[in-house]
Amino acid sequence: MVWFQDMADKDDIREGKDFGLGIPQQNRAFHVKGGGALDWGMQNRLARIFNPASGRTVMLAFDHGYFQGPTTGLERIDLTIVPLIPHADVLMCTRGALRSVIPASATNALVLRCSGGQSILTELSRELIAVDIEDAIRLNAAAITTQIYVGAEYEHQSIKNLVQLIDTGNRYGIPTMAVTGVGAEMKRDQRYFGLATRIAAELGAHYVKSYFIEEGFERVVAGCPVPIVIAGGKKLPELDALTMAYKALDQGAAGVDMGRNIFQSDDPVAMIQAVGAVVHKKEKPQQAFQLYQQLKDAMRARNVPDRSRLARTS
Ligand code: 5RP
Repeated sequence: MVWFQDMADKDDIREGKDFGLGIPQQNRAFHVKGGGALDWGMQNRLARIFNPASGRTVMLAFDHGYFQGPTTGLERIDLTIVPLIPHADVLMCTRGALRSVIPASATNALVLRCSGGQSILTELSRELIAVDIEDAIRLNAAAITTQIYVGAEYEHQSIKNLVQLIDTGNRYGIPTMAVTGVGAEMKRDQRYFGLATRIAAELGAHYVKSYFIEEGFERVVAGCPVPIVIAGGKKLPELDALTMAYKALDQGAAGVDMGRNIFQSDDPVAMIQAVGAVVHKKEKPQQAFQLYQQLKDAMRARNVPDRSRLARTS
């Protein structure tokens, strides 16, 4: 047919010659713990969360408002969190915060908080899945997340939420991070976190957020077949928070999902960079703290207003 003969891209077809004969095609190993058998889309999303060079992640958590309202440091996410975006690998937040104040030009991976339905005025473990998978896809989520409350009043419901999220995420190649929520009456020890993280992984969570504990954290990590990232927990002095992150990573954690210890810091922009140095460059706590001080002093010297502090004290 004349039509085919006229097509420009068919004019100069040459037969392939360089087949690299004798060089076996490599099956590359995947860098995320327990993720070797996952499908391409799932692995690709996890690779956006866990930096392929370091194998680790700095997740910035600012989802606290979904049950506790305008938390200190998060009163104005546009003022306090947006300046931190360039220094985070991942943004972990609700769809409401994302759509209302996070610029869509941000290229960080998004881990979308998909549970809700309770408040600090009621029973925390009584959650439901509060985001439809279609909306997670629409928002280009790299992962979705819900909380499990092992040992709490609504343990069963919270685990059911996790299973539902995993099954719907699997359908579309979106990984699920399980958050281990701890009730006030739970003892934060190796036995508890070993139990909660293992349950989450066995049910199919692709990674788990837990807390660091001084005794036995290494065994919690070893007993969990998928990566563990640590929450920061309540605000600590900067050096203590960096030390906690260092110890957790040294004992096998794959990163941090840190909120208050960053956005409630005296200088959140400096703090997130210091955390990043611990996570990705294995910087020791003292060195990372020095970096924090230097960055903080440099900002002050240049008279750059710390917008997060201004927002908190005004
Ligand atoms: C709330 C969460 C938070 O994202 C999590 O606790 C991390 O924040 P922080 O470092 O402030 O503890 O999952 O349920």
